[in-house]
Amino acid sequence: MNKDIKRRDFLILTASALAGSKMVQANPANERVVDVGPASNYANDGIYAGFENQGFFIVRKGTQLFALSGFCTHRRCKLAAQSDRSFYCKCHGSRFDPNGKVTDGPAKRDLPQLSVAVNDKGNLLVKVTAF
Ligand code: FES
Repeated sequence: MNKDIKRRDFLILTASALAGSKMVQANPANERVVDVGPASNYANDGIYAGFENQGFFIVRKGTQLFALSGFCTHRRCKLAAQSDRSFYCKCHGSRFDPNGKVTDGPAKRDLPQLSVAVNDKGNLLVKVTAF
């Protein structure tokens, strides 16, 4: 799929999300947009771990606000956020730093960052893509 089509799909998904529902099932590519509420709810530095069941974490780091996949890049077990702001996989012990970089294997790939956008209502939208 080319980049322009993906961008167009994201705009469509965003428009659909604005139509009212909190989560919109999107397209056959297993992508969806999740409206996580006002971006101002994520103003303090740290990991917002309330979205593990949606497959991601929200991270605020200074002026940066981004989302990381909540699945280990080794064999896709769900990750747990730790008090030191790292992520731990209980399946085989991989660890990732607060930026999603692998610090301990067996995982070899860093956590993918998910696209985020703020809509005209000030809500944060996270584009969740199956990896
Ligand atoms: S699935 Fe996470 S370390 Fe294996």
